[in-house]
Amino acid sequence: MALETQNRPAITAKPLPIFKVGIVGGGAMGGGIAQVVSNSGLPVVIKDISQDAVDKGISTARKTYESRVKKGKMSASEMEQKMALISGTTSWEGFDDCDLVIEAVTEKMDIKKAVFKELDQVVQKSAILATNTSALSVSELAAVTGRPDKVAGLHFFNPAPVMKLVEVIRAEQSSDETVATLLAFCQDVRKYPVLVKDGAGFLVNRLLLASFNEAVKALEEGAAPAEQIDMVVPSNGFPMGPFVLADMLGVEVCSEVVHTLNAAFGDRFKPTELLDWLVAEGRWGQKRGAGFYSYGEGDDSAVKAKIAEISAKYQGEKLPFEVDRFVLPMINEAAIILEEGGASLEDVDPAMEMGTGMGRGPLKVADQMGLDTVVERLEFYASKLGDRFTPAPLLKRMVAEGKLGAKSGQGFHTHEVQEEGAKARQFIKVDRDEAVAIVTVDNPPANALNSKVIMELNDVIEELDADDTIKALVLTGGGTMAFIAGADIKEIAEIAPGKEAEQLAARGQVVFTRMENMKKPVIAAINGFCLGGGNELAMAAHIRIASDKAKFGQPEINLGLVPGFGGTQRLPRIIGYANAAEWLLTGDMYTAQQALRVGLVQKVVPAGDELNQALALAKKIATKGRLAIQYTMQAIQEGMNKDIKEALAVEAKYFGEVSKTEDKKIGVSAFITKQQPKFVDR
Ligand SMILES: NC(=O)c1ccc[n+]([C@@H]2O[C@H](COP(=O)([O-])OP(=O)(O)OC[C@H]3O[C@@H](n4cnc5c(N)ncnc54)[C@H](O)[C@@H]3O)[C@@H](O)[C@H]2O)c1
Repeated sequence: MALETQNRPAITAKPLPIFKVGIVGGGAMGGGIAQVVSNSGLPVVIKDISQDAVDKGISTARKTYESRVKKGKMSASEMEQKMALISGTTSWEGFDDCDLVIEAVTEKMDIKKAVFKELDQVVQKSAILATNTSALSVSELAAVTGRPDKVAGLHFFNPAPVMKLVEVIRAEQSSDETVATLLAFCQDVRKYPVLVKDGAGFLVNRLLLASFNEAVKALEEGAAPAEQIDMVVPSNGFPMGPFVLADMLGVEVCSEVVHTLNAAFGDRFKPTELLDWLVAEGRWGQKRGAGFYSYGEGDDSAVKAKIAEISAKYQGEKLPFEVDRFVLPMINEAAIILEEGGASLEDVDPAMEMGTGMGRGPLKVADQMGLDTVVERLEFYASKLGDRFTPAPLLKRMVAEGKLGAKSGQGFHTHEVQEEGAKARQFIKVDRDEAVAIVTVDNPPANALNSKVIMELNDVIEELDADDTIKALVLTGGGTMAFIAGADIKEIAEIAPGKEAEQLAARGQVVFTRMENMKKPVIAAINGFCLGGGNELAMAAHIRIASDKAKFGQPEINLGLVPGFGGTQRLPRIIGYANAAEWLLTGDMYTAQQALRVGLVQKVVPAGDELNQALALAKKIATKGRLAIQYTMQAIQEGMNKDIKEALAVEAKYFGEVSKTEDKKIGVSAFITKQQPKFVDR
């Protein structure tokens, strides 16, 4: 397969119009889907086995509307209009003239088959029958009907009103017209469809479970405790850790999917003793009050004892847990599914971003890591932990063809090739917008700071400080999950203790201080996790604007460390001794609002707006004269740690300097004549 041919196959069939939708099963999913459909103005009828269940489905839809009314997003009368589109039945009344029926009954093949057989009899022959199954074979369901070409999967995610993604599952028998209709329908109900072939786990669950299952294996080996894995994974671009997620989704659901994937793909998805044990013990997650963790009464000692028992039997090599071990199986599985034609290149990253909340899809992460590095790391793990890490042939072929990702300009995606003469940088991107430079640290998945990132940053700082066309900088993190989630733990683990570690810290400090001493302001646009080295870098910026989703902290103490890039020094200077002591000694994470209260950030804005706001501020500053900006910065920096008498002398010195400039004449005369000054930067 050539990667170039991996776009979604063009479907020329015309979508059929949908005027009315039926939903079978008024559970969590059925009720949610009814809200989504009615919200787009279509009538929808829900069927369940009892009136109670029907009412529950309708009230699930109502609850979503009510919360929108409460938030002022719609009026009560609009809600009633939408609710009037939803009806319920325990018979098949109102199903005969549906154009589309979505089945969302209990996840059991025999129940679903019975429903499809009945649907085939009662619903008009032109209608499409779709299943919301999470994992069962859609082709097998299609086969029990007399219209297999009109059957496909429509896999909404939970909660349906919130999650944008829908996997449209093409069964072996689905016609182009059926697929085209479902793709168009998703858009009509304001969802983002991806097209996936029928197969175990479809796309999102298959890729996510590849990573999850590996995390359970790491836990079984004693590579790290669950709490640590659950801390490392989210600070690397994922919205939560794997075990917290499993407890939320249902441990038994995850286990069932692992078994399905194992049956389909063999040892790559070998079920784990620990997961099977949790299911047998009834530790199904939050809903049962206990899963990997305990919720409410009881503790985790039984789980810890089980892990100790399993890890004592483990004969293989013990490796400390690194986030690569979580990310690489997902990348490898994505390459395998692409090669099989199970999903297309354009769908994989959006599906994973929208379906799991990860900041950047696995193929983007792979491109940024470098596909040669991905293959190398997979081979390393394959040699230590087994064949499940064997790199996908597609990855190896791409490397052989020189498609290495961002650094070569072509990987899974095409990347901007560096302009001639521009310095080739791997981790830091510099964009220019008039007199403002936007500096993006891009080292996925978490934008972690390692020596190479810091060296590039140093280079960028020197270049931009010397560039008189640039008057202000905005500093941000690539992706949506992290500003900078911390130092590279792998590098810290490998560093020799004592002098070498001291030098590593000192080198980072020099670079951060160089940024702090720039003659132009640096505004940090904090777009996500801002932890450890990331927080230390943000503190060396001059102004900080945070997304309301950003998280702050100096977690070094949790790793038995002390911050090394200025955390113990800048933090107390900014937020005060007592606040800083609490942050540094607990290693806790703080919200953007908490950071605002202690004065660490100047402003908290809705997520996604931080870069715009930082840029607007930088542009406003850039309308001022270059030398006035420079002398203001220098006066603050030089005076800051002096006593007031000496500090005022510093100010007087710069007042003298600025008085010699052309801009001073322009500014003062514009003020007198009540005009806007046009500074000339001299
Ligand atoms: N919950 C999730 O996270 C999630 C996510 C995506 C897909 N799904 C899939 O969606 C489907 C429904 O899941 P759910 O979480 O809403 O389950 P649920 O248990 O909340 O609801 C299932 C509903 O189906 C009804 N039902 C059972 N047999 C029926 C029949 N013969 N006729 C009519 N109604 C019948 C039940 O009474 C119940 O109200 C499953 O296939 C599931 O795998 C679930």
